[in-house]
Amino acid sequence: MFKKHPLTDYEFPEDYNLWRNSKIQLTDERLEICGHPVMESWEEPYMKTLAEIATKKGGRILEIGFGMGISSKYINDQDIDLHIIIEGNFDVYTNALNFAMNSSVKTIPMLGFWEELVGCFSDGTFDGILFDTYPIKKEYLFTERFRFFKEAYRLLKPNGIFTHYLGEKDPKEEYNELASNVGFNKVSYKTCSVNPPEDCKYWNDTEILAPVIMK
Ligand SMILES: C[S@@+](CC[C@H](N)C(=O)[O-])C[C@H]1O[C@@H](n2cnc3c(N)ncnc32)[C@H](O)[C@@H]1O
Repeated sequence: MFKKHPLTDYEFPEDYNLWRNSKIQLTDERLEICGHPVMESWEEPYMKTLAEIATKKGGRILEIGFGMGISSKYINDQDIDLHIIIEGNFDVYTNALNFAMNSSVKTIPMLGFWEELVGCFSDGTFDGILFDTYPIKKEYLFTERFRFFKEAYRLLKPNGIFTHYLGEKDPKEEYNELASNVGFNKVSYKTCSVNPPEDCKYWNDTEILAPVIMK
């Protein structure tokens, strides 16, 4: 694995508004925002696995981070009632609106950062949550997904399922502790085979873990 965090040397935007309003660079292979390698198409099998985990109970699904819309597509392939998408970048949000308009599943994109928006949902609103954002601040490089754990627990119904981009091959004991400290019952993992290109800045292994975190 990488010896230091692979994104350490990137320049980070001074505030969230720069990320919100930044024009995106989007191709079939990748999405870049503020010069950062936010999402790449080799992640497709991983996104499919995360989407299948988050939708296992059907019902209402919350997804945070639309990106290239890959996991959104797999979420809407499942038998669910509602798909809410929270997305912090305006251009990506516009793509999410187009996706929603062309989907047969009731899909509601919301523009904003999860930190500003999740408070509008009552406890126990969702059956499944898929969290896949990006560390917009350098100080969140190692903690981005963990900052959301408490809210994930609050927003899920009992027996609901939470999953997220993990970006680790061997999760440490602290990770399970963090999940159980906020109240989650059980953490397990699915292994997903992937084939990142050699120049990928953030993953260089042929396997990646998908967490299954049960309330
Ligand atoms: C890795 S991409 C998501 C990839 C997506 N799962 C897919 O399959 O294409 C991360 C997305 O999260 C958005 N994002 C980053 N931080 C966010 C936050 N705090 N709240 C909401 N969206 C955020 C980014 O703008 C970006 O579109």
